Amino acid sequence: MDEYNRRHFIRTSIPGFLGLGLALPTITALATRANACYGRTPENGAINWDAFLTAVEKEAEKQHLDNWDQADYVKKAAALALRLNLQDEALSEAFAKTKNGLGNQRADFYKLEKQRNFEVSLVQFEKGEQISHHDHPGMTGVLLCATGNVDVWNYDLLEQKAESDPLLLHQTAKSTLEKGMVSTLTSKSRNIHKLQAHSLTQLVDIFAPPYNKERAHNSSWFKVDTETYQGKKDIYQATKR
Ligand SMILES: [Fe+2]
Repeated sequence: MDEYNRRHFIRTSIPGFLGLGLALPTITALATRANACYGRTPENGAINWDAFLTAVEKEAEKQHLDNWDQADYVKKAAALALRLNLQDEALSEAFAKTKNGLGNQRADFYKLEKQRNFEVSLVQFEKGEQISHHDHPGMTGVLLCATGNVDVWNYDLLEQKAESDPLLLHQTAKSTLEKGMVSTLTSKSRNIHKLQAHSLTQLVDIFAPPYNKERAHNSSWFKVDTETYQGKKDIYQATKR
């Protein structure tokens, strides 16, 4: 069953329940927030959480079109992420919760939003913590570094012509993501990555479509050779774990 959250509920149901008179202030407030990314603030001005979600939803719903351009989508979602006001009080509770993860020696995940077409999570690493090689089958991702810095290795999965062929990854990038920078992936490009933090790091991750049972089940972790495959530049053999 499709998931609907508070925002959908307010937008679709309040007029029916409360009558237009009562609903107008709410609708006006929502419209004002939603419009913050379409002209009410400067093009490069910060947008609040609700406006951000509204704008991402507008882009992410295009995933249902036959000709969805994932590269264009991640570019637009990255631009929106860069404009998100991380000081918005709607996010303060989630950022406060991250204190609970300190000292547990693993990356921590906090759900910020989940809708039919996308989800947003906050991921926290402490210095040295990592998430090893993994993929996101059929998904796109946009990672905004809110604080700290983290190394990101990106890979494309090379096509296996025969089942007996080795699983080969092409390392397309290794970069350090610092505060205010974004990293993106699509279902075809950079879909496999590994992350390791240099310092306390918090990322805001947008995934479209969101994880569901099937996508979580189809996700894989990889063990990747440290040496290149047969000396080929940036090509590494991997095995699924
Ligand atoms: Fe990932």
